[in-house]
Amino acid sequence: MRVHTRKIALIGGGQIGSALALLISQKDHAEVVIIDLPQAIDSIKGKALDIMAMRPHAGVDVPITASSDYSDIAGAEVVIITAGVPRKAGMTRNDLLDINLGVIKSVSKEVAKHAPNAFVVLSTNPVDTMCQAFHKYSGMDKSQIIGLSGALDSGRFRLFIAMKTGISAKDVSCMVMGGHGPTMIPLTRTATVGGIPIQTLLSDQQIEEIVQRTRDAGSEIVNLMGNGSAYISPASAIMEMVVAYLYNKKRLIASSVLCEGEYGIDNCFIGVPCIIGAGGVEKIVEMELNKTESDQLQINYRALQDNITQI
Ligand code: APR
Repeated sequence: MRVHTRKIALIGGGQIGSALALLISQKDHAEVVIIDLPQAIDSIKGKALDIMAMRPHAGVDVPITASSDYSDIAGAEVVIITAGVPRKAGMTRNDLLDINLGVIKSVSKEVAKHAPNAFVVLSTNPVDTMCQAFHKYSGMDKSQIIGLSGALDSGRFRLFIAMKTGISAKDVSCMVMGGHGPTMIPLTRTATVGGIPIQTLLSDQQIEEIVQRTRDAGSEIVNLMGNGSAYISPASAIMEMVVAYLYNKKRLIASSVLCEGEYGIDNCFIGVPCIIGAGGVEKIVEMELNKTESDQLQINYRALQDNITQI
């Protein structure tokens, strides 16, 4: 059996956590340790065994364990935090602020204690504020902390452009900046399909529909599912970020990271383009925004500043 020298810790083994365990093990990336509440642990052990029973079919050897003891995350190179509550129909991500803040406060201290050198990816919503709280309570470096926003939102933006143009999503390149919420900023000005600006392929009205659907995609899924929120696409988007770190890919992925002056934003986690490599968040890439985009970013910044006062 291949000896796994790499370890990834998943804090939260719910919908997104178990999808991550599947994606990590399918590619044999690392040993997986899932941490969850004691009352949930049997069910998660069941999921872990189910995924491990895939080994003979998939030809992989990843060990997956579940525990409520944080000392089991020692040595993890990556910690992915999905612990907390997802939204229900009619809720915004911000409605989860109070409850998930309590979760992140306790989780951050445990992660800082047992895996202080890990690259930490957060998915718990509202994610920008959860990153801010994690940074404050863990005391870990800003280069180690990143939140899932643009990878997922840009993925949805890419999907909707692909669906409208009838061209493969692989050829769509675009970015969503700002907070991971209803005022996120899908950048239409820079979106292309195979290098061709989308304005030459789609009408203004079609583009506006895509922008709105991108902003609402999370809610559209919550409303359709009826019980829980998106988990396959968030887990896949997280894996892009994790793989960029593990294999030093230098990917440019808009993500929630700590801005300290970039884009005129100070001491606030918000979605901006950044380079992810072996150094974690290696660099925030600054680009010129037009007046509308920059005004929208400021609106997002102000809303997040309101949240920060509650941490
Ligand atoms: N410590 C560890 N695990 C916890 C804690 C805690 N303090 N509190 C809750 N959990 C666990 C739950 O027991 C559950 O297994 O977190 C898991 C959350 O899983 P789901 O409820 O299935 O939620 P999921 O769909 O995975 O979303 C998780 O990510 O994208 C965000 O909005 C989403 O905030 C939500 C989070």
